[in-house]
Amino acid sequence: MPASLEATVDEVVETVAETAPDVRSGLVGRRSYRETANASGERQLAADVHADELFEERLGDIDGVGEYASEERDGVVDVGEGLSVAVDPLDGSSNLKSNNAMGTIVAVYDADLPARGEDLVAAAFVLYGPITSMTVARDGTVTEYEVVDGELRETEADVTLPEDPVVYGFGGRVPDWPADFETYAREVEQELKLRYGGAMIADVNQVLEYGGVFAYPALDSAPNGKLRLQFEGNPIGYIVECAGGASSDGTQSLLSVEPTDDVHQRVPLHVGNESLVGRLEDALD
Ligand code: F6P
Repeated sequence: MPASLEATVDEVVETVAETAPDVRSGLVGRRSYRETANASGERQLAADVHADELFEERLGDIDGVGEYASEERDGVVDVGEGLSVAVDPLDGSSNLKSNNAMGTIVAVYDADLPARGEDLVAAAFVLYGPITSMTVARDGTVTEYEVVDGELRETEADVTLPEDPVVYGFGGRVPDWPADFETYAREVEQELKLRYGGAMIADVNQVLEYGGVFAYPALDSAPNGKLRLQFEGNPIGYIVECAGGASSDGTQSLLSVEPTDDVHQRVPLHVGNESLVGRLEDALD
């Protein structure tokens, strides 16, 4: 990557780390739903909107960022010239009511939005767990940090999925799973331990830590699943692949999925150890 792009990615990563404590402290008092729905028709919490405003203002201010898009707003915002940043400001925000983990996801594309996963130059997530951590993928490697007073303290260089998988988590109601996915799930549940918390970032972080597979599959009622390609599928696929794992929409890597002109396009999402994702693709064949 040219030095000027590297410098912009550095600034995006630093800005997300600086903003994470403000997002976290801003959760207090913002647990109620607003009248509005987001572009995907989901109810918005005051915390979703607050986090989106913080990221739009701060990431949009960076020289070298040209576009900002988020799950919480309809269109792409033109903020200058340069890289495109797509953000899920509060992933899993329905967990706020029950005070469980949530995250922020950031995708940095060297292309206009909506973009292909293959155009990503970096992706990262913040996990608001007992500790605020941040996991950053760039240049083919993944690094985990703790976020302390808005600064990054490295805790693990070269995050890699363990070879022996331990955990799985699958979204969607079981009666809504297509029969071929259910057959695969029944096999996996004989082998691995269930970890499903309702926030993709927290569930994917279990897979990065312990090895395994996370999926929000196609459903009978929603053939493209629930999660969004630009804000969730691409960056999570990129992070897991950089950590030595695999990603799939059911037939191909998430990074190869052709974007439509809808920035809120959904995609069936499966990530984890290569062997488990390979078996999934065989099962859905
Ligand atoms: O909107 C995304 C999300 O909150 C993910 O973080 C999570 O994996 C999923 O939705 C949870 O959906 P459900 O409530 O159907 O389990």
